[in-house]
Amino acid sequence: MAGTGIFTEILDGEVYKYYSDGEWKTSSSGKSVAIVNPTTRKTQYKVQACTQEEVNKVMEMAKSAQKSWAKTPLWKRAELLHKAAAILKENKAPIAESLVKEIAKPAKDSVTEVVRSGDLISYCAEEGVRILGEGKFLLSDSFPGNERTKYCLTSKIPLGVVLAIPPFNYPVNLAVSKIAPALIAGNSLVLKPPTQGAVSCLHMVHCFHLAGFPKGLISCITGKGSEIGDFLTMHPAVNCISFTGGDTGISISKKAGMIPLQMELGGKDACIVLEDADLDLVASNIIKGGFSYSGQRCTAVKVVLVMESVADELVEKVKAKVAKLTVGPPEENCDITAVVSESSANFIEGLVMDAKEKGATFCQEYKRDGNLIWPLLLDNVRPDMRIAWEEPFGPVLPVLRINSVEEGINHCNASNFGLQGCVFTKDINKAMLISDAMETGTVQINSAPARGPDHFPFQGLKDSGIGSQGVTNSINLMTKVKTTVINLPTPSYSMG
Ligand code: G3P
Repeated sequence: MAGTGIFTEILDGEVYKYYSDGEWKTSSSGKSVAIVNPTTRKTQYKVQACTQEEVNKVMEMAKSAQKSWAKTPLWKRAELLHKAAAILKENKAPIAESLVKEIAKPAKDSVTEVVRSGDLISYCAEEGVRILGEGKFLLSDSFPGNERTKYCLTSKIPLGVVLAIPPFNYPVNLAVSKIAPALIAGNSLVLKPPTQGAVSCLHMVHCFHLAGFPKGLISCITGKGSEIGDFLTMHPAVNCISFTGGDTGISISKKAGMIPLQMELGGKDACIVLEDADLDLVASNIIKGGFSYSGQRCTAVKVVLVMESVADELVEKVKAKVAKLTVGPPEENCDITAVVSESSANFIEGLVMDAKEKGATFCQEYKRDGNLIWPLLLDNVRPDMRIAWEEPFGPVLPVLRINSVEEGINHCNASNFGLQGCVFTKDINKAMLISDAMETGTVQINSAPARGPDHFPFQGLKDSGIGSQGVTNSINLMTKVKTTVINLPTPSYSMG
């Protein structure tokens, strides 16, 4: 159970503690932040409302701990990460339980998230050992006008303090996808979890604590974004920010200083369906892509652009599958569970009502109970409807009928977002041309969009983000290149 067994020390009465200087602490604010269970809409957990002074303290510790961590051999850093991964996986049950209660993620998927996170940490440790264990050696005489008098040695060095801000939908996985690359590369790490997802993150951080990382190297600050959000992101000690979430990321990037940013800010992933597509395959992928975790994924299929000639058949197939989706509590592994908050449910409802007023065809009756919204497929959506462009982050999927491939590509490219997209066709040549024409960070051919496997590059164009994620790219983003040049008095050619 969450907060029990090895996790007892992270709880102070009914409020979870924050993690600073290698210890679990109660904030001097005397205040807490409530975490509302999306299913029951009642307070499930409470976390500390940390103060700006506590942020300052954590930053100070992070700066000094990083100096010695950077001098810790790479193999030792990797060993500790492997240990943390093992502890995390051993304790998947209580962590998954808090995911179920805080973010209403179905129980099975919650366990998958924790296991996937352990695997990511281990993969990152191995990848770090490989890519950080080698540098480059350049010779000057390849550039015009130079003799071989300069030997240039390059290696990758840490940035310093990395601030990680994961989102509510993958609080554990998208936290470790930032923590593990930062640590293996020799950085220290300050984590600011989302309010919903904070308790899962605190449990995950305790696994790193138990693995024996040095004091102050990892910290976890909880509290209200309105009180400590800007203070954290604009803190002079921060040398890199890795953020996943909504358009808050755009304001963070405007305020952040001259530091590397890794931002993933959502998408409106299009699914383009051509006339020759395998419609059963498309229908299964629309269900998986559009309705997994009730559509609360950046990479969810968020608009279907289907050729008119096959649209009726596809819509019928998807409708039949939607009818089979189970709706209810995450504890019972229902496919569709409550969305994360009442304001999110209200936003989704606003998009649905706009589509209704403007004449979309409802393939199911619109139904809502509290934060629970039944899955809904909207056919005959037109570009003047908000749902054609905005991301509901819920179980509502619009279908736009198109008369040409160009129309589909144009719709996809007119979006402010450019995370992923997918195209279904049996013609690989056409698929490649469409992929090249789509202005998105990734295009999936004959499958729904997805970030994983976690070592694949993951990036968005336009308002979908800055920088690229995936294990290798994250390690590289959290390092800087350092060079040392050996200058010789006379040219030297080996074996010359
Ligand atoms: O919404 C976060 C985004 O990273 C999605 O990940 O694994 O569901 O494709 P995934």
